[in-house]
Amino acid sequence: MKNLDVKILTKHLDDPELHTLAAYERHGGYGALRKALKGGMTPEKIHEEVKASNLRGRGGAGFPTGIKWGFLPKQTEKPVYLVINADEGEPGTFKDRLIMERNPHSLIEGCILSCFALKANHCFIYIRGELFKAIKRIEQAIEEARAKGYVGPNVLGTGFRCEIVAHPGAGAYICGEEMALIESLEGKPGQPRNKPPFPAHVGLFGCPTIVNNVETIAYVPWIVENGGQAYSDLGSDRNGGLKIWGVSGSVKRPGLWELPMGIPMRYLIEECAGGMKDGKVMKGVIPGGSSCPPMLAREIDVALDIESIKKAGSMLGTGCVTVFEEGICTVRLAQRIAHFYEHESCGQCTPCREGTGWLYRNVKRLEHGDALEGGLGLLESICNRILGNTICALGDAAAMPIQGFIQRFGDEWAAHLGAGRCPIQG
Ligand SMILES: Cc1cc2nc3c(=O)[nH]c(=O)nc-3n(C[C@H](O)[C@H](O)[C@H](O)COP(=O)(O)O)c2cc1C
Repeated sequence: MKNLDVKILTKHLDDPELHTLAAYERHGGYGALRKALKGGMTPEKIHEEVKASNLRGRGGAGFPTGIKWGFLPKQTEKPVYLVINADEGEPGTFKDRLIMERNPHSLIEGCILSCFALKANHCFIYIRGELFKAIKRIEQAIEEARAKGYVGPNVLGTGFRCEIVAHPGAGAYICGEEMALIESLEGKPGQPRNKPPFPAHVGLFGCPTIVNNVETIAYVPWIVENGGQAYSDLGSDRNGGLKIWGVSGSVKRPGLWELPMGIPMRYLIEECAGGMKDGKVMKGVIPGGSSCPPMLAREIDVALDIESIKKAGSMLGTGCVTVFEEGICTVRLAQRIAHFYEHESCGQCTPCREGTGWLYRNVKRLEHGDALEGGLGLLESICNRILGNTICALGDAAAMPIQGFIQRFGDEWAAHLGAGRCPIQG
């Protein structure tokens, strides 16, 4: 296993003042910005380092950040925007909140460096509306950075202009989807746009835009300061660096830990989160937020990287694992998940609007022990009609867990059919 003692974003979390500029600078903060802007690093050089870092997007899809940045047009008359996705709505996920509340300047420094690399002068941080403390801390951090000359019309006296605006959302999960987020930032209802065109070409206000997750951008200062290769070396093959992992559910110590990409899931659950609580026996896990297909307890020796989890039949998602115990009915669990997606579907496209509703109603019927016409095949057929047929991936996010539950817990699901009640929890 890699060195588990290296920390980046959580290294100084024991300092209760870390959210202030003074404390962040005491721990070396804004050193990367000085190095880049005063030390003559070009935007292209920063981009190269990010590519070399093998940093993959931490918002759920794991797209390589350096490659995404390369999609911006080489020449444009239009302004380029950087948009930070701080909507963090995926159930079971609570890692960006930690960064924003406890180490907000790491994000702000990352935004300034990334704007410089992307030749952008404006950055918007779209923050989930319920995260009051995070909004306050980010607003304070922007103000402090502005007062110190890190943000504003003339960053560190170099003539580089960088404006950062915090924009609270209004509590809609769909606004975490990058195109819906852009619509919402523009003041419209949060409904995704069809892709292509991709935001790198036609994004915010019709201009070239890069959308990145909070955690993704918060790692950029370390990469600039220490080099992309050094970051890559901290992680595993094609999965560079560290990541903030979460564990919640039936474990002794739910929480967050910053550890290398590629650590075994078992290590995270047993060593970090202390294993199962109250003598419970693990039944399964949802690896990275509710849109990921569940895995069985016996499958948790998988390495936590994008390819390994995919090979095991699920997704790394946000890297926040939810653990559930024997005695929990997976149909009831799936019913709650299906209800979430039915409620959060924006209603714009038919397969998602209708499909998420059909899924929820039929999983609910199954949980009550009703017979379904066509048995579990009915649910599978609804999933197949949603998957790949929607404007954005919310539809997939609703269908994939249901497919996964049927695949892994099919006997338990079949036992509900016509049983008149839930055979697991009554
Ligand atoms: C329904 C839906 C909700 C999403 N919610 C979030 C979110 O809350 N935060 C986030 O960073 N990405 C979210 N995403 C992924 C974003 O669309 C986008 O891929 C991500 O912000 C890109 O950043 P990254 O490359 O740094 O990961 C969501 C996607 C979908 C389909």
